[in-house]
Amino acid sequence: MAEKAWGGRFSQATDQRVERFTESISFDARLAPFDIQGSKAHATMLSEVGLITADERETICTTLDEIGQEIAAGQFEYRIELEDIHMHIERELTNRTGDTGRKLHTGRSRNDQVSTDVKLFLRHSIDQLIDLLEDLQEAFVDRCERDAEVVLPAFTHLQRAQPVMANHYWLAWCEKFERDRQRLVDCRRRTNSCPLGAAALAGTSLPINRQRTAELLGFEAVSANSLDISSDRDFLMEFVSDLAIIAVHLSSWAEEWILWFTTEFNFISIPDAFTTGSSIMPQKRNPDVLELIRGKSARVIAANQHLLTLTKSLPLAYNRDLQEDKIPVFDANDTVTACLELAAAIVESAELNVDRINSRLEEGFLDATTLMEYLIKKGVPMRTGHETVGSLVSLCEKENVRLAELSLEKFQAACSSIEEDVYEILGVRNAIKAFVSEGSGGPGRVAEQVAIWKKRIDER
Ligand code: ARG
Repeated sequence: MAEKAWGGRFSQATDQRVERFTESISFDARLAPFDIQGSKAHATMLSEVGLITADERETICTTLDEIGQEIAAGQFEYRIELEDIHMHIERELTNRTGDTGRKLHTGRSRNDQVSTDVKLFLRHSIDQLIDLLEDLQEAFVDRCERDAEVVLPAFTHLQRAQPVMANHYWLAWCEKFERDRQRLVDCRRRTNSCPLGAAALAGTSLPINRQRTAELLGFEAVSANSLDISSDRDFLMEFVSDLAIIAVHLSSWAEEWILWFTTEFNFISIPDAFTTGSSIMPQKRNPDVLELIRGKSARVIAANQHLLTLTKSLPLAYNRDLQEDKIPVFDANDTVTACLELAAAIVESAELNVDRINSRLEEGFLDATTLMEYLIKKGVPMRTGHETVGSLVSLCEKENVRLAELSLEKFQAACSSIEEDVYEILGVRNAIKAFVSEGSGGPGRVAEQVAIWKKRIDER
């Protein structure tokens, strides 16, 4: 019975089914480096306040480092009866150092310990995810040189709407991923306060120094309320919701490029290295990576639901349910990490099929809205202009011509304000030049934004 950290009160061994059921080592072992980091800071603080000696601190820290190296080298054996990573490390420390190791858990509980470990993990993950988001943004911005002259049809309802510079399209994704990045920065800020010292839920009667532990672990603050700390998981909900938004952005980008990769659209080429074939149809090249980026978003969205549902009915403070929080957090983290890595590689290596895009650019009356605005500039009320251009488009459809191909007589029959200069705004290349408003897809504004983005990336 002494096998268990809590063996003293118990007279019966734990049922093996319970051990299998309650273990978390199968998924929390990856917290080992953070657990050791937290324990070393805790031991240092304990020695500084006189709860252990400097020698004991030294022994604890050196032994924890040795254990950490063995774990990293895969030389450490896990046993489900030791439940979780925290108990494994502490038990091993005690095996090696006896009573010294038995002092480590002074003024601490697994409740504040696990929360600290997860927060350290999260900080580390957030930093990595921010780097990956920045890589992806850079991949988009790097295209701007290449695709500077390209014009794309832009869509609403997946119907051709108005033309934009291709670079406007690249930067649209940069903006979304920038908000995602900022959300993570924000989440990191709220995560960055130290739970250690809350002990089980009420704090401790021992003279610990929480400020010092926080400082040693690089936390910006000490979390204020021990009861809150013991039950708090909203930093995880925030993290996983942020990841779910990233996954949804990635998924809709992937969906768009899956369409663009079809014979019907044929807007992009993706190199062989990032596509796969069919086991039966020899001609196939499938966008499986994009499809899986879209598909895997389901796991991240589910992780978000998982955490919210897990915590919604928990009274204060710690409840064992919380052990289950790591499963969705790790899965969402790993999924989004993998998706971001591949997304950047695909954005970098794909090519726009410019000839193909250009060959159909004049289809779909992308210049119709610019024509309406031309009428507005000539003093025609907007609604009247809308109607007039609508009827002109309908005329074009009947005659199977483009707006730019209508004669001046026909224009003037529809609206007497139309003059010869109308041809200067018709046709996609002309129509796009007319966009001047801030944030628009016209060449001038887009060039400004490209410059801003290049600078932002250079300064990172
Ligand atoms: N493995 C547990 C978890 O991840 C550690 C905390 C256990 N605390 C407790 N009071 N049983 O949540």
